[in-house]
Amino acid sequence: MCGIVGYIGHREAYPIILKGLKRLEYRGYDSAGIALFDGKDLKLSKTKGKVADLQERLENEISTSGNLGIGHTRWATHGVPNDVNSHPHYSNSGDLVIIHNGIIENYESLKKELIKRGYTFTSDTDTEVLVNLIEDVMKSDNLKLGKAVQIALNQVVGAYAISVFDKNKPNEIVVARLGSPLAIGVGEDEFFIASDASPFIEYTNNAIYLEDEEMAIVRLGKKVKIRKIKDDSLVAPYIQELQLNLEQIEKGGYEHFMLKEIYEQPNAIKDTYRGRLLASQGIIKMSGIDDHLEKFTNADRIIVVACGTSWHAGLVSEYIFEDLARIPVEVEYASEFRYRNPIITENDVVIAISQSGETADTLAAIKLAKSKGAFVFGVCNVVGSSIARETHAGAYTHAGPEIGVASTKAFTTQITVLTLIALKLAKIKGTISNSDYHYQLQELELIPEKVVEALKADDHIKKIADTYKSVSNFLYLGRGYNFPVALEGALKLKEISYIHAEGYPAAEMKHGPIALIDENMPIVVIATKKGHYEKVVSNIQEIKSRKGKIIGIVTEGDVQVKELADHVIEIPETLESLSPLLTTIPLQLLSYYIAVLLDKNVDQPRNLAKSVTVE
Ligand code: F6R
Repeated sequence: MCGIVGYIGHREAYPIILKGLKRLEYRGYDSAGIALFDGKDLKLSKTKGKVADLQERLENEISTSGNLGIGHTRWATHGVPNDVNSHPHYSNSGDLVIIHNGIIENYESLKKELIKRGYTFTSDTDTEVLVNLIEDVMKSDNLKLGKAVQIALNQVVGAYAISVFDKNKPNEIVVARLGSPLAIGVGEDEFFIASDASPFIEYTNNAIYLEDEEMAIVRLGKKVKIRKIKDDSLVAPYIQELQLNLEQIEKGGYEHFMLKEIYEQPNAIKDTYRGRLLASQGIIKMSGIDDHLEKFTNADRIIVVACGTSWHAGLVSEYIFEDLARIPVEVEYASEFRYRNPIITENDVVIAISQSGETADTLAAIKLAKSKGAFVFGVCNVVGSSIARETHAGAYTHAGPEIGVASTKAFTTQITVLTLIALKLAKIKGTISNSDYHYQLQELELIPEKVVEALKADDHIKKIADTYKSVSNFLYLGRGYNFPVALEGALKLKEISYIHAEGYPAAEMKHGPIALIDENMPIVVIATKKGHYEKVVSNIQEIKSRKGKIIGIVTEGDVQVKELADHVIEIPETLESLSPLLTTIPLQLLSYYIAVLLDKNVDQPRNLAKSVTVE
């Protein structure tokens, strides 16, 4: 939700900020803007639209010189996306300029007060209120910017990551965070500000991640000074050395990040189990589990909290944990869980799943579970993210940066981690036979090469996509372990092609959705050999007799479904419990190619943002 970038140092700020915004565009892309200071003038250009639109406008509108600047790419919360509501925002005097990611919930009452004090507003945004509040505090008490930011933020209810500077003090940028991420890149006589490290990774590997309720004064020639916003106490900056490299955040010859990330899955899965899965020795090593083993083995139940695709991975884990480790599991939408007064006890283990590690609802669900005494375990991809830090323990997915808004490799690597945990617990609890345990481990180790095989259906899937690209509706059916995959397939198609799609448990079809079936309705049915195959074949027959168009996801060598379906896509054989790692691949490719053929913006679908830091 909104990307922010800032620079102060000896280089030209504009190219750094522009490139940084392009890298952060996955976070929001309805408008963009940049403010630059060249030692004399504060210049600002902003526009509704993409960073490319901003570039065109800005370079005609203002001079791009200056060693200090901030830039923003927006996902609108308050105020429609238009030029005026775009960030940065000036204060009334024109001295201060701010960018903001988040929501100021009490902005209306603050705005009323400021209007009474003579302030005027040009936009509908909460951000313009905040910058004027800071200015008001600064002027009323003759304070420096840092202090004024602190006092103003203490009056604010909501979430924010902000970056603000004063043109009269061009040697510093003040930043703060509560609920939205903010990193400071520390270079030689220069600093970078960004929502994540991707805008500055080619300049420095050294980063400070602000914690919630912290602010920092980033001043040239000085060390970064961090304070707690509430109690003013100083915090020693922890400079982290990043492992990220430039290659990981570029498209590497693929047309879209989504396609690159689909193709990265064999390696992403391998990276996720590397060092953890020692199949030949029958060992699963996971320090996050080993250090808290009793919490898991004594758990009355596991509650999974997550949103979107991560919730679907959670749903797959319900089957894995119950089937293999015999632990009862409840899978909750974090947004519902946090507001429904759930019964949570100290004997519950809560697993929070999140690619970004920043999803506001998941974060709130974690805080609620912790307040009730539950042990909370995180499964995150982004190292050092808020959820990774907020949980008692966790396991990273090691998928590498996922930049396409539609989640792909995050899903399969989350399932990989959850499978490892379930197998480990099953072994310890004795709920799995020795031979089955070893077989599962061996099969899991083979999954990356089977994903490579599944990806070979690419061209065939492209042709199927062409046949169905113009339909208005799709149904996705699956059973057991593959019911969540059906949900995930439908979500992928909806979000990037804007075609309406529903996922259902195959047997539920006759309780309603069957009424939708006619010769115009394509139905993707996951019908692998080891998952209630005969039952699903009966469902396919029911569809066929109503003239629905059947796209079957089948196990290599299948005969029965091939005879009934209009199209089949084969995947290699594996265990039922591991099949979601393969069945999801053709569904990702199908949605990708339909969206491409419809000329949609695959990596940045309308209205969506990669990291949902507002509730
Ligand atoms: C779907 C998608 C979203 C996310 C959801 C949770 O492709 O990307 O549904 O899965 O917003 O995000 P994380 O996993 O970052 O918590």
